[in-house]
Amino acid sequence: MDTQKLILLLILLLFTPCSFSSFTPTDNYLLSCGSQTNASLFNQFFMGDSTNQGSVFLSADKSISLTNQNPPPNSPTLYHTARVFTTTGSYRFSMRKNGTNFVRFHFSTFKAPGFEFDLKSANFSVLVDGNLVLSNFKPNNGSILIKEFVLKVESNLLEIVFRPAGNSGFGFVNAVEVFSAPEDFIIDYGARLVGPSDVQEYKNLSSQVLETVHRINVGGVKLTPFNDTLWRTWIPDEDYLVLKDAAKRVVSTHTPNYQTGGANREIAPDNVYMTAREMDRDNSIIASQFNITWNFPVVPGGVRHLVRLHFCDIVSPALNLLYFDVYINGYSAYKDLDLSSLTFHTLASPVYVDFVADSDDSGVMQISVGPSDLSSSIRMNAILNGAEIMQLVNAVDSSVVSQKKRLWVLVVVGSIVGGIIVLLLILAAFLASFRKKKPKQLTVESVGWTPLRLFGGSSLSRMSEVTGYPSPGYFGLKIPFADIQAATNNFDRTLIIGSGGFGMVYKGVFKDNMKIAVKRGMPGSRQGLPEFQSEITILSRIRHHHLVSLVGYCEENSEMILVYEYVEKGPLKKHLYGAAVLQPLSWKQRLEICIGAARGLHYLHTGFAQGIIHRDIKSTNILLDENNVAKVADFGLSRSGPCVNETHVSTGVKGSFGYLDPEYFRRQKLTDKSDVYSFGVVLFEVLCARPAVDPQLDREQVNLAEWALEWQKKGMLEHIIDPYLVGKIKPSSLKKFGETAEKCLAEYGVDRPTMGDVLWNLEYSLQLQENEHEREPCADRSSHGEVNVTTTINPGNSSSSMRTQGHCDNNYQDVGGTQVFSQLMTNEGR
Ligand SMILES: *[C@@H]1O[C@H](CO)[C@@H](O)[C@H](O)[C@H]1NC(C)=O
Repeated sequence: MDTQKLILLLILLLFTPCSFSSFTPTDNYLLSCGSQTNASLFNQFFMGDSTNQGSVFLSADKSISLTNQNPPPNSPTLYHTARVFTTTGSYRFSMRKNGTNFVRFHFSTFKAPGFEFDLKSANFSVLVDGNLVLSNFKPNNGSILIKEFVLKVESNLLEIVFRPAGNSGFGFVNAVEVFSAPEDFIIDYGARLVGPSDVQEYKNLSSQVLETVHRINVGGVKLTPFNDTLWRTWIPDEDYLVLKDAAKRVVSTHTPNYQTGGANREIAPDNVYMTAREMDRDNSIIASQFNITWNFPVVPGGVRHLVRLHFCDIVSPALNLLYFDVYINGYSAYKDLDLSSLTFHTLASPVYVDFVADSDDSGVMQISVGPSDLSSSIRMNAILNGAEIMQLVNAVDSSVVSQKKRLWVLVVVGSIVGGIIVLLLILAAFLASFRKKKPKQLTVESVGWTPLRLFGGSSLSRMSEVTGYPSPGYFGLKIPFADIQAATNNFDRTLIIGSGGFGMVYKGVFKDNMKIAVKRGMPGSRQGLPEFQSEITILSRIRHHHLVSLVGYCEENSEMILVYEYVEKGPLKKHLYGAAVLQPLSWKQRLEICIGAARGLHYLHTGFAQGIIHRDIKSTNILLDENNVAKVADFGLSRSGPCVNETHVSTGVKGSFGYLDPEYFRRQKLTDKSDVYSFGVVLFEVLCARPAVDPQLDREQVNLAEWALEWQKKGMLEHIIDPYLVGKIKPSSLKKFGETAEKCLAEYGVDRPTMGDVLWNLEYSLQLQENEHEREPCADRSSHGEVNVTTTINPGNSSSSMRTQGHCDNNYQDVGGTQVFSQLMTNEGR
């Protein structure tokens, strides 16, 4: 066993951070699946999995090697073959080194003789070392999809299981990479847990399974596996930057000053640290103090993520001039960050900081950097060089993980390889116990991340300053805390039906059997108080058939609780796509839902003297009752409309990624037309049954608004509609609907219809669907009796909307008398 010790020590020494040595993983398996021959990609050599290698075992009764007979020109040979699993099968890798590993899967679909199905219809789960990393996974986006996971392997055998979903499902994979990460790639201390309470330390990060969601070279160019010692891909940040005018690129020509204890080339390649974005203070449109903000789409709803930010001060002429604050999802994440002290007083020296944060309901992870109060007014600046966002897969505490692993190991031992494994386990146990004793000191010494272990108490939440209180007038709505406790079984976790930046939403039942939805602000936190107050003020004044009504509120014991009517069938989104859809909605039902929601919004915009802008219209904020009647929810972000002598409300950007009005985004100019834009996205969502943003799709398809507009402009919208609706929509109805959605998505607010116009056009689309021989009375209607004509100037590229005087005399009054549109006039404020 002495040789084992020696090897272990050598391995550990090898991975003590040393800036200029290149990295060679101890374990390094690159498999070209379903292939007899080797294939290369970006200087990496993938071995055919059908060749006998000795250290990788393929175990699958019914797996098929598939070869694409007609691969697209220029596609890498790695993607010309695949292994198909028609029953559960696995790869087992014998591992020389315990510790953090990268696991990557490559997926690219094709159809080939030898297997009856197109790989596009695959549906399967993947388990790595007993962790379910991909569940009911359908890699069908038509191009190459790479899934990357980072996880700790603690046995000498790593098993990757492919499990087809259901009876008819099958799984496949084109290539698998398994290789050791550098020592200390994920360290267990110093990560900052960011959320409603003050920043705390997040421990034991390395025992989590991480899935890479974004890897961004801020201010830089795309970096391919050629440019990265760990064969990663880094993409530019441009598309995620919220206010492009706020930031400018900085590029350094000097290689970074790597130091022991800081970042190294394996953490991120040179180029990440040699480019950055800083505040563009010359831009006179914006005030002198502002943040640079990026919005990255993530899985919404309280999912935990690791946010690793990379910094290297390539902007300051000298030390101790740059102090800035970091925010994640609006929470203070690092106050007065001082790169000079983090880098042991060396300029242009790279560091990274790990943050752990939960996603909220917005569907984006929002990262901001802005000048700290400590910076002098001439030197106000903030920078960011790189960002990585990784989702914690099935985040559970480490004791549960190891228990699960032990069980898994038992299963493996019992069923498959028997005695050999036992031997290997004993060996592993011996090595593990040995590791715990001696080399630990070595590991700690080599890290030296001391600055991160200090947690000052200065992390104030940005929203902690609260002033004023809404005007009285809603006292009749006060509900005793005890009643709410009783209704929700003391906030039983099993009754949670949603979550958001504000807190949790519980289902509850009052004593009189009235069903309620209880929105509870984080106890003891004043975060979100302005939203709470604005919601009470606004909701207490509103009653409408298509708006969720407020039942009451509670502010005892510094609680912030809002109680709403319970809307039986929940968010519209759940009835459009995803696993929960049991019975898809018919086209008529969808039109009626859109009409209902439009009516609710129209009421918000026009029902009060000053109007209300919703600000966060999306398919999760439109709820359906038991009769599929749409009710618009969540006025927490609402804001009274512009006063008489103002044309817009100027305010910090809020709302949800994928639904945000580009004009509001750019100029922070909020009008009721911002809601119209978001509603246009919802219309396409309803038609196409897919999310507003789907990061898993091809680049041109990720953003629904852009993608659907492209097809609408080509006049081929029917190609992308929900497959369930194919052949069920009358062409005239679809045409009207598509045109309406398109107008909602006009680049500029002035070119968009009002909610009243949208409502009219949707009613009309429904009428076209219902009455076969309806004569089209008028091409379109807008509030001034004008006709909107959309002229495509440059097909498939850009278009502009022109207004011409009407060729049609229909106006509000004319149609108001007809049966179909009469509700518009009478249904307000019910
Ligand atoms: C990345 O690698 C490619 C291929 O070796 C090279 O042409 C390119 O200049 C590199 N980019 C950077 C930013 O280093």
